Amino acid sequence: MNDLLLRACRREPVERPPVWMMRQAGRYLPEYRAVRARADFLTMVRTPELAVEVTLQPVDLLEVDAAIIFSDILVVPQAMGMALSVDEGVGPRFHHPLATPADVARLRDVAPEESLGYTLDALRLARRELGGRVPLIGFAGAPWTLASYMIEGTGTRTFARAKAFLARHPAEAHGLLQRLATAVGDFLVAQVAAGAQVVQLFDSWAGALAPADFRAFALPYLAGAARRARSAGAPVIVFAPGAGWALEEIAQATGADVIGVDWQVEPGAARRRLAAHPVAVQGNLDPCWLYAPPREIARRTRAMLDAFGGRGYIANLGHGILPDVPVAHARAFVDAVREWRSTEAAR
Ligand code: CP3
Repeated sequence: MNDLLLRACRREPVERPPVWMMRQAGRYLPEYRAVRARADFLTMVRTPELAVEVTLQPVDLLEVDAAIIFSDILVVPQAMGMALSVDEGVGPRFHHPLATPADVARLRDVAPEESLGYTLDALRLARRELGGRVPLIGFAGAPWTLASYMIEGTGTRTFARAKAFLARHPAEAHGLLQRLATAVGDFLVAQVAAGAQVVQLFDSWAGALAPADFRAFALPYLAGAARRARSAGAPVIVFAPGAGWALEEIAQATGADVIGVDWQVEPGAARRRLAAHPVAVQGNLDPCWLYAPPREIARRTRAMLDAFGGRGYIANLGHGILPDVPVAHARAFVDAVREWRSTEAAR
C-alpha cells in the first residue's frame, strides 16, 4: 500500500516525496473527455459511478500517489440553494448571484449527508475501488472564495461586486462567511467519515484581497473551516494561491498539517519561513511549464525537488493542470518525482 502522502503530511520519513496534481481528473485526459461526452459536468459530479471512474483515471494512467475525489468547490453554495450551471466553454455560473443581504438571509444551512450525499457516496465507492492503492483526498472551497463566487455569479478579473458587498454590507458579509465556514467544516468532517484520508481547502481567490482585508474577511473563516475539519482526525492541506506573503499567518491561524504554495513563492523561502511551524509544504511548479518539452519539465521538476528537499514535502503544481496540456507532459512531471531520490529523504 502506497502511503507516501500520509507520511509526508505527518512529516515522517519517505523514500521520495509523493506527487499528485491539482485538477488531475480533468479535460487534458482523453479518457476524461470520453466520459464527459456522455454526461455533463454536474451529472458526473452527482453520479458516484461516473465521479469515481474519473477519480481513478489519473491513478491508473499516470501513477500519481493520491486520488482526489471528483467534485467541485461550488457544490456547497448549490446545496445552500443557489442554482448552478456549468456550461461548455463558459464555466460555472450561478443563475441568481447574491446581490443584497436579503439574498444571503434566504440561503439554507447545509446538512452534508442530505444535500451533498452524492459526493459522500462517491468517496465511499472510491475507497472501495482503490482498495488501499493510494490515499484518497477530499476537498472544499474556503469561505472567502465561495462567497466571492456566490456574489459575482461567475469568474471575474476585478472582484468588484464581491468587494463592493464587503464595503457596503460588512456585517452581513461576516455573517455569510461564518455560515460558509461552518458548512465547509462540516462537509469536510463528513468527507473524512465517508473515507477521505486527507482533505484540502482551496482559497483560490485569496490573492484578490489586500493584506488587511485578507486578515479580516478570508483568514479567520479559512481557519474556522480548517480547525473544524481537523477535528475529524485526517490531515488538512490549506492552499491560498496569491497569498504567499501570509504563509506564516496561514500556518499559525489554521493549524493546518500542510501549506500549499503557488509558484510566486520560492521553494527555499517557503521552507525557511515555515521552519518554525509544524507543517509540511505542497507545490509549486507553474502549470504552464508543462507546455515545455518533457526533458525541460523533468529538469525543472528535479530543481523544485532539490530546493524543497524530500521530507515533509508533497510535489504538486502551483495551480490546477490546464486542459490542453499533453498527457505525456503530465507524465514527465510525475515520472521526474517518482525517479527522484534525495540523500536526506529517508533519514
Ligand atoms: O483536482 C481534481 O481533479 C478534483 C476536481 C476539482 C474540480 N474543480 C473539477 C472541475 C477540483 C479540486 C476543483 C476545484 C475548483 N473549482 C476551484 C479551486 C481550485 C482552482 O482550480 O482554482 C475553483 C475555483 C472551482 C470552480 C470552477 N469549477 C471553475 C473556475 C471551473 C471552470 C474551469 C475551467 O477551466 O473551465 C469549474 C469546472 C470544473 N471543475 C472542471 C473540472 C474538471 C471543468 C468542467 C468540464 O469538464 O467542463
